[in-house]
Amino acid sequence: MLIILYNKAMLPKLIKYILAQTPQSQETEVSGWVRTKRDMKNLVFVEVNDGSCFAGIQCTFDREAGLEAQTEADLSGLTTGASVKIKGRLVPSPSSGQAVEIAACNLKVLGEAPAENLNGKNQELDIQAYPLQKKRHSLEFLREIAHLRPRTNTFGAVARLRSKTAFAIHRYFQERDFHYLHTPIITAGDCEGAGAMFQVTALDLSGIAKTGANGVDYSKDFFGKKTFLTVSGQLEAETYATAISRVYTFGPTFRAENSNTARHLAEFWMVEPEIAFAELNDNMALAEDFLKYIINAALTECAGELEFFDAHIEKGIIESLKNTANAKFSHITYTEAVKELEKAASSKKISFEFEPHWGSDLQSEHEKFLTEKIANGPVIVTDYPKNIKAFYMKQNDDDKTVRAMDVLVPRLGEIIGGSQREDDLEKLIRRMKEMNLKTEDYYWYLDLRRYGSVPHSGFGLGFERLIQYISGMTNIRDVIPYPRAVGQAEF
Ligand code: 4AD
Ligand code: MG
Repeated sequence: MLIILYNKAMLPKLIKYILAQTPQSQETEVSGWVRTKRDMKNLVFVEVNDGSCFAGIQCTFDREAGLEAQTEADLSGLTTGASVKIKGRLVPSPSSGQAVEIAACNLKVLGEAPAENLNGKNQELDIQAYPLQKKRHSLEFLREIAHLRPRTNTFGAVARLRSKTAFAIHRYFQERDFHYLHTPIITAGDCEGAGAMFQVTALDLSGIAKTGANGVDYSKDFFGKKTFLTVSGQLEAETYATAISRVYTFGPTFRAENSNTARHLAEFWMVEPEIAFAELNDNMALAEDFLKYIINAALTECAGELEFFDAHIEKGIIESLKNTANAKFSHITYTEAVKELEKAASSKKISFEFEPHWGSDLQSEHEKFLTEKIANGPVIVTDYPKNIKAFYMKQNDDDKTVRAMDVLVPRLGEIIGGSQREDDLEKLIRRMKEMNLKTEDYYWYLDLRRYGSVPHSGFGLGFERLIQYISGMTNIRDVIPYPRAVGQAEF
């Protein structure tokens, strides 16, 4: 009740609600940013957008009806991008494409957005022409003005989709007795053992450089040891799953991988459920159910956004998402998958840049081939060679493969990576030693196998990959507000 009062009393009514009203000449006020202005002698049309939905609202100023001098003056100087407050009455719109418009009488410009360079007037203020003029801008150009791109239809839609999807993820887990767990951002361990970590230090680096010490004394550092930004909250999530049964994390993770691709970021958000008393099959079932739930949520809660993506970003995306939501995900072992890839390569059906062979990781081109050409839909690849996977995965009896699973989807490839975890203390220690990991650093992780060990499993979903998949945006830098990638930490 209080919230409703607050909304009504304090905040402007959002355009998405104004557009849904029945026009009865009621007094209406709209606040937003000007998308376009058309001056037709007696009539001036101003389209205002507030990002609450795609559509803006048309505000029509009728000079014949008489306008205040200030409104008239503001109208003539009004440009795209300016922020305004407009008052008038809500009436049926005679124009096509909109049911209502505002018969406007009063305009207040809150902030101008000059259409040309004003640097001649005051160098210090450095006011250049507003860069988002009414035309189609390339995604590359918009990446350079990432602080202004949310004012475009595309980035407004991505922002709304991200927000709704994040909430749906929480809802999915909360409704299924998973507890939201906050794992540390700063850690001393390397979960994935890939060594692609950003170091965190409070040491004076210039001092270190001066001494030229090849052995830095980390006992003098803030934490008394070498620390990093986390690559995954999984190991900590395991400690809570083996205590309160079902948990999930949803937070930022960091990878200092030098991979400059359209699906890698140095900072990305990951969702990591971890479940006790669960084996690989349970894990696969959860991943499939979860993904379908989120896709269905996006289809219903972001219907307008998806129509936009379908029309402007990726034709047929709604259909393809519906197919995934209704599909039975295929299962294939890594070994079978490699056989399929080798068969395709040797029959010259396709030429891969990287030759597929047993023992090496699947490349993105292989993943796409498997999902698009072999499975014709989402596919879960299981039982990867142990040598290309992390130390914590449950070892199979063949001594060659582990209980890993990657979920691959059309257009994108890997969207989820997970596994059943090794719960046998002896096997885990042996594997860690083989991989040259210091078992003493992981004493707490090993304790889970010393005391009340249980079969348990989990996976990680890359949130940006998910948003890419749902929106059809091809570059991962366009589905996170401020992308961090090699050589890129602007804003
Ligand atoms: O496959 P990954 O590396 O798995 C883990 O980190 C496990 N600890 C997860 C777990 O079992 N709890 O990463 C999981 C997912 C990938 O499938 C991918 O969607 C995404 O995270 N991902 C990235 N997304 C953007 N940029 C990167 N550099 C990514 N690396 C992984
Ligand atoms: Mg992976």
